[in-house]
Amino acid sequence: MDFEKIKKLLKDNGQEQLLEYYGELDGKQRAQLLEDVSKINFSVTDCINNHVADKNLKDIATVPAKSLDEIAAHRDEYCEEGVKLLRAGKVAAVILAGGQGTRLGFDKPKGTFNVGVTRTLTIFGQLMSNIKDVTDAYGGYFYLFIMTSEINHDETVAFFKQNDYFGYPADKIRFYVQDKEPVCGLDGKILLADKHRVAFSPNGNGGWYSSLVNSGLQQLLKKEGIEWLNVFSVDNVLQRICDPVFIGATSLSRSFCGAKVVRKTCPEERVGVLCSIEGRPDIIEYYEIPQDIAAEKDENGELKYPYGVILNYLFNVHVLDAILSWKLPYHLAKKKVAHVADGVIKTPDEPNAYKFETLAVDMVRYMGSCLAFEVDREKEFAPVKNPTGVDSVESARKLLEKNGVKL
Ligand code: UTP
Repeated sequence: MDFEKIKKLLKDNGQEQLLEYYGELDGKQRAQLLEDVSKINFSVTDCINNHVADKNLKDIATVPAKSLDEIAAHRDEYCEEGVKLLRAGKVAAVILAGGQGTRLGFDKPKGTFNVGVTRTLTIFGQLMSNIKDVTDAYGGYFYLFIMTSEINHDETVAFFKQNDYFGYPADKIRFYVQDKEPVCGLDGKILLADKHRVAFSPNGNGGWYSSLVNSGLQQLLKKEGIEWLNVFSVDNVLQRICDPVFIGATSLSRSFCGAKVVRKTCPEERVGVLCSIEGRPDIIEYYEIPQDIAAEKDENGELKYPYGVILNYLFNVHVLDAILSWKLPYHLAKKKVAHVADGVIKTPDEPNAYKFETLAVDMVRYMGSCLAFEVDREKEFAPVKNPTGVDSVESARKLLEKNGVKL
């Protein structure tokens, strides 16, 4: 798009401030800025005043989960079905590694963080070791998709290469970059990261499937006949990946997706809460659930909504394709973002900007049916979100040791 068209586009969307420094730029920088502007999805800023992500909590109900006991009783049956699907190449895994890990305060890809004590044990290394448990047991390799962001893509790819892909066949691994959205100030004006660069940030982990499709990988899914995708967060070092029991249970339940869940330790626990809203399975993020609902008890005095998700889902690819055009709601994340102000790049002390993120939890509702599959948190849930305290490097190390991992 040429300058005049871009100028009109910005005027129509009330974002002309993005050209404030255009006169100071050289030819290459001007071209870069025009290209950045041409990629902006202006409609995201609408959600600042219009919270489409808000859920109708009037019609909320409990969702039962397949309990640990039930799973133990049917373990062999589920496992056999899961192994059958894995051996037939119908399942692949997706690591969500496009996040920025701000709470951890680590400026490299989170997966490269060392959780080892006496040896180097990176998060990616531990996840690849968890994968090996499964591939050794069923005797094959599934496709592994690794979603990165523009910010951490090159470093992530280089890290896997340096580590020889942790012994996994490189031709079974595909990296792809997640899509991005503009970042705007609290007044709704899109920010400049530099005089010639629009500020963008990754579009949240809900963008994982549309980004996979936009990067051309849907062809591979079709060619290989992949029917299920096990999607999980990069930071849970006890994550069981392509767990055949989970795959088998979800497939046999005829649900379109499965969600691993843990029993919440307290109403305030920082996990998304599984429920049903208006008759469809749904998940409400911990920072969006009203306290009275989170703390509500049933007739036995137990939490009415006892299950929290651990960001490990199994999605049916046919259904994902069918709902691809359904737009996920944007959630606003208020963050500190460095940007150009008065001609210089400033790093604020207080949150000054909104990032627009879609969330994988919202896809569960769109899938229409979901098997909630309970897991033992001591064995499967050790997220590394913070340096210390709850869900931290410290707590994850303790759990790794408990599970026999040498640190
Ligand atoms: P979190 O919500 O914990 O975000 O992501 P984060 O970026 O890792 O950490 P903070 O909030 O900045 O401290 C949960 C999972 O979703 C991935 C993350 O990499 C993590 O695996 N994610 C998050 C993405 O892949 N893309 C995103 O845009 C956001």
